[in-house]
Amino acid sequence: MIPEHVAIIMDGNGRWAKMRGKERVFGHHEGTESVRACSEYAVEAGIKYLSFFAFSEENWNRPEAEVSELMRLMALSILNERPTFMKNNIRFRVVGNRSRLSDELNHDIDEAVRVTSVNTGLTLIVFLSYSGKWDIEQAAARFAAAGAPEGHFGEYLATAGIPDPDLLIRTSGEQRISNFMLWQCAYTEFYFTPVLWPDFRKSEFRQALEEFASRQRRFGKTGDQINVETKLSE
Ligand code: IPE
Ligand code: IPE
Ligand code: MG
Repeated sequence: MIPEHVAIIMDGNGRWAKMRGKERVFGHHEGTESVRACSEYAVEAGIKYLSFFAFSEENWNRPEAEVSELMRLMALSILNERPTFMKNNIRFRVVGNRSRLSDELNHDIDEAVRVTSVNTGLTLIVFLSYSGKWDIEQAAARFAAAGAPEGHFGEYLATAGIPDPDLLIRTSGEQRISNFMLWQCAYTEFYFTPVLWPDFRKSEFRQALEEFASRQRRFGKTGDQINVETKLSE
């Protein structure tokens, strides 16, 4: 089975560069190639939503030079990728605390979102200045203010309208969620690989999808119940 929504914590750029005796930003540059390769593969595989954790709220605490290079790279990628988005019918979205981004970057994001909003294929979501705790807090405040009924909390999260991830991939061997989609990952399958992000390309992505296909998702039910349901739907 192909997951509807795959989310990726892209980790290991710094170590990838260090292993080659280069600056950390060299790894970030190479990482953008992996973003392109995975997006292309997601289109081929028929995935509907592909999320990339590009910059966490905590990443603001990195050295200023690295933060500004990451922001520069983000703006550059958004501009460079626009023709590819149009060619591949990709809809672009950004999720995160955008009040911390520069006016220029916010403007470029708005443009890319507007131009690609006519596309109907893959939705590519970049999580920028995002934190799962921030998301839950901002949603809780708006949920309470609206007096919304129980069961509708997800509509106030920054990911409103996006189905919860079916598969979460994290590269570089770290096995933690690092404040990504805390609420949304309630029933997500986790896949951890030692491969560093700049080396994660189509064949690595395919391997993750194969592993996902071999899992049985039970959502609290028994394996026997799921087997019966699967038989009935065949
Ligand atoms: C992921 O790679 C990119 C971001 C978090 C922005 P890192 O920069 O975290 O690379 P490592 O973990 O230091 O190797
Ligand atoms: C997680 O990577 C955030 C992103 C991939 C954007 P980090 O490298 O920041 O995570 P920690 O600090 O090792 O948990
Ligand atoms: Mg890291």
